[in-house]
Amino acid sequence: MVVINITVSGKSILETDAEVVYVGFFQADEKEAKNFTKQISKNIPQQVIIKAKELFAAKKFEGKKKQNYPLYLSDKKLVVAVGLGKKEEYNSYVFRQVVASVAKNARDRKVKNYAFFLGNNFVRMNFEATAQAFGESTWLSLYKFDKLKTKDKNGNGNGNGILQTVELLVEDRKNIEPAKKALLNSQHIAESINHARDLINLPPNIATPKYIANEAKELAKKYGLKFTVLGRKEIEKNNLNLIKAVSSGSNEEAQFVILEYNGSSKAPICLVGKGITYDSGGLNLKPYIGSSTSMRNMKSDMAGAASMIAVVEIAARLKFNAHVIAIMPLCENMPDGKSYRCDDVIKAYNGINIEITNTDAEGRLVLADAFAYAQKYKPACLIDAATLTGAAMVAVGYMGACVMGSKETVEKLKFASKEADERIWELPLWEEYAELLESKVGDLKNSNESSGPGTIMGGIFLKNFVEKTPWAHLDIAATATTEKDLHYTESGATGFGIRLLVEFVKKYR
Ligand code: BES
Ligand code: ZN
Ligand code: ZN
Repeated sequence: MVVINITVSGKSILETDAEVVYVGFFQADEKEAKNFTKQISKNIPQQVIIKAKELFAAKKFEGKKKQNYPLYLSDKKLVVAVGLGKKEEYNSYVFRQVVASVAKNARDRKVKNYAFFLGNNFVRMNFEATAQAFGESTWLSLYKFDKLKTKDKNGNGNGNGILQTVELLVEDRKNIEPAKKALLNSQHIAESINHARDLINLPPNIATPKYIANEAKELAKKYGLKFTVLGRKEIEKNNLNLIKAVSSGSNEEAQFVILEYNGSSKAPICLVGKGITYDSGGLNLKPYIGSSTSMRNMKSDMAGAASMIAVVEIAARLKFNAHVIAIMPLCENMPDGKSYRCDDVIKAYNGINIEITNTDAEGRLVLADAFAYAQKYKPACLIDAATLTGAAMVAVGYMGACVMGSKETVEKLKFASKEADERIWELPLWEEYAELLESKVGDLKNSNESSGPGTIMGGIFLKNFVEKTPWAHLDIAATATTEKDLHYTESGATGFGIRLLVEFVKKYR
């Protein structure tokens, strides 16, 4: 994929050499449109204002969120008016969406470069955060998974066409340096997120447990992280029996990976990511399509692991004053004569006997062992991200993830969620539901045979393995991938949750 370069300048809309300049306008009715100057930054040239007024008067452009309309100043100079939506509804999340719509619009216009006028009236957070959001949104929305597309003779995939550079026009020259710094931060973040998206989008015959473990190892080399991997033998020796059981039907060797960034001497934040590189369901084989949890796309069942790798990578790249340990159980869930079965009872790493009632509820099993193992590090808190239940889609749909866990940790995540503009919604872990997972033959069963609060039961199961550690569980089953284009993503892996967790780690006290 061609990497898009973002530059910063204090040039005006007329001075820039960019082929297209995008200028934002708030939504206005006819009356407001006449009294246009209210919403205009002083650096928007008169010609642009006059043309924009005409568009508003002719109702060709109303400034609706993400709307765009071309406005030719001359043969050579194209300004595109872009809608910021209603002024009273405008916030950082809208800004991110607008920036993404601009990037996609420019790509569709097949331009080599474009400029974006960042007027002071666009800034809702502080300036740095706004510039960072600009970078993140631009790079995330221009992501294309074209790794497996046969290249043309110029060595290009069919990714972003000819688009090469983006110029950010800042209104105050004093903001040039802060913008450059913020863009550099956002580049680290977006690159790592897009790398995680590659891992999630890669097919399961390529992104095997060993492949992902190796990617983590390469990052460790590059950024000076500590990398540890337990293979089949060590997993057995260490009694990580649930991971062993889930992987028993697969020809791919399970990998239990630990990636550590030690940027502070404090007790670590442990980040556990579900890393099922393919979830066929095991002996409880998933149907191909037509169910909430069909087999198609189950290559993305390692999105939690890919996300946690990215969070640690970003913490290292941005040199956070933080101690973060990502723990990733990586394996496949496949049907075979050697597979674990329903009715099996397996002793978890912490000694709890788990009765298997559904081999497709495998995520909570590998996480359970990983949670118990994490206790070794005496974590300050433990967060997991997992594509755990199809029911997450039923609960809140695809515009946000479900979160459950200890009050304080969940609150901190909610705060980070606002900063990152990634939505989460809390579900309750009501104690009465514990009985839904009571086992007759063992201590706990991994699913309830009849329907019930599916996402919550996932959380309740996991709670048995966290002991007293402050903990939160993110069920990202509905957000990790998308079928249709969302604000800043094309179909496929979204990278959801990484920015949220980066904010969490950055602010953690
Ligand atoms: N990996 C799936 C969950 C999933 C579903 C992820 C849809 C992404 C999209 C998980 O392992 C699973 O199969 N969960 C079961 C749990 C049930 C058997 C208790 C589910 O959701 O049906
Ligand atoms: Zn499953
Ligand atoms: Zn799964």
